[in-house]
Amino acid sequence: MSEHKIELTINGRRQQATVEGRKTLCDFLRVDTGCTGVHVGCEHGVCGACTVIIDGLAVRSCLMLAVQTDGCAVTTVEGLAAPDGALHPVQQALRDEHGVQCGFCTPGVVMTLAALTDGPKRPDADTLLDAMSGHICRCTGYQGIRRAACKLASKTGAEKP
Ligand code: FES
Ligand code: FES
Repeated sequence: MSEHKIELTINGRRQQATVEGRKTLCDFLRVDTGCTGVHVGCEHGVCGACTVIIDGLAVRSCLMLAVQTDGCAVTTVEGLAAPDGALHPVQQALRDEHGVQCGFCTPGVVMTLAALTDGPKRPDADTLLDAMSGHICRCTGYQGIRRAACKLASKTGAEKP
């Protein structure tokens, strides 16, 4: 079984690890680093629950191998809130708009919205809503999620008139 040494940053902390070549990133994050906010639903890129941010982009961690993140900066939902516990604007918007029910899909939703709203471009509501089409909510709580996405778009000043 092949093993590889990797060095990466997870939620701002530099870490080294030895991983099997076949280990998925979601398994690595959950089991080896304790980032259990990375939820695993479908394990084949469909539900979005496992989404994390890698070097600024939202990525499905069930479709990546841990070894591919050597040298990368990975952010999970555990790394979003401020050190004093203040929620990230995406987390706050979902809270304010009641976009969370059981919470299983929530970390993935949060990470996709955060990657877009923290990125270099100001996403409009259509962009954020379109991104949400890649997230399955088993509680069918889509209206709250959609309201939160629209609220985030208006905060960026880029919402369509
Ligand atoms: S668990 Fe990765 S997309 Fe569903
Ligand atoms: S809040 Fe339960 S799956 Fe989305």
